Amino acid sequence: MMKKIKKLGIFCSGGDSPGMNACIRAIVKTCQKKQILPIGIYRGFEGLIDGDFKELNNSDIRNVLYQGGTLLKTARSKRFLTPEGRAKAYEKIQYHQIDALIAIGGDGTAKGAHVFSQEYPDIPIVACPGTIDNDLFGTDYTIGFDTAINTTMQAIDKIRDTAHSHDRLFFIEVMGKDAGLIALYAGIATGAEAILIPETTTNINELIQIIRHRWETQKTSCIVVVAEGDDAGGAFEIAKKVNEQFNAYDTRISILGHIQRGGSPTCTDRINASLLGFHAVKALLDGKKNVMVGILKNEISYTEFDKAVKEKKSQYLQLLETFQYLS
Ligand code: F6P
Repeated sequence: MMKKIKKLGIFCSGGDSPGMNACIRAIVKTCQKKQILPIGIYRGFEGLIDGDFKELNNSDIRNVLYQGGTLLKTARSKRFLTPEGRAKAYEKIQYHQIDALIAIGGDGTAKGAHVFSQEYPDIPIVACPGTIDNDLFGTDYTIGFDTAINTTMQAIDKIRDTAHSHDRLFFIEVMGKDAGLIALYAGIATGAEAILIPETTTNINELIQIIRHRWETQKTSCIVVVAEGDDAGGAFEIAKKVNEQFNAYDTRISILGHIQRGGSPTCTDRINASLLGFHAVKALLDGKKNVMVGILKNEISYTEFDKAVKEKKSQYLQLLETFQYLS
């Protein structure tokens, strides 16, 4: 029998993403309607270990729907990777009489939640997928992805303007240490000539052929979108390898970086984040635990933590195939 939930701890962990605030707001509002006390845990797992807790009320969630970042702050915690760190976190949870947790974050968050739920099964945890990378299995979208791909697309469009004026070759590095979905979406949406992602092996000779062909047939701009975690290296490294063999183009490199993580969330991100936040509380009240709430084919889904991080999405294969015909 699961204990009645009277106090619910909420935290964000890992990289922030636009829409996290909308998710927190939905959780707090649902808690209020269900007579649950929402407790904000600041700085993710770090705050869980330090007991950085504060009761959340209406003033905390006022006017946050349209704001990027996270009002609860976030962190990447090394201490939570250790059994001692997790034991301290459990002590703080017990001391503050928190009955359950909702974690908002990406793969690191789901991994942390998985280990903790195995060590301390009396604390039910539900996760909401929050990462611009969209690299979690069991959900079509993660909170922040839609905003990030739109930001990235707009930045690449702007670079295309100047690339086109100067007939230049640009290597544009986008975020995605282990995941290429931002690169694929933004690359397809901007008509990039090549997209390099960590999920596939990059062949520099093939890339040179594409660039050379562009130069020989059209002598106009050429854009290569590189996900930061590509196996051939980042944009600087790849540009160097290409230029060593083919340097007809005047070449420039642009690293988009953290601009992709900020900004006001799109409508899709606000809606998805609100749905996920509400359903995370509902899942806990329905007795579900140790699952990530997601959205699959427009339906709410529940995926065990270890499955969410271990299994790969099939989405990128379809996009790659499409790109081969469009580029
Ligand atoms: O997990 C989201 C993400 O933005 C990745 O795409 C990127 O590799 C990483 O975070 C960067 O993390 P940090 O801001 O800690 O350098």
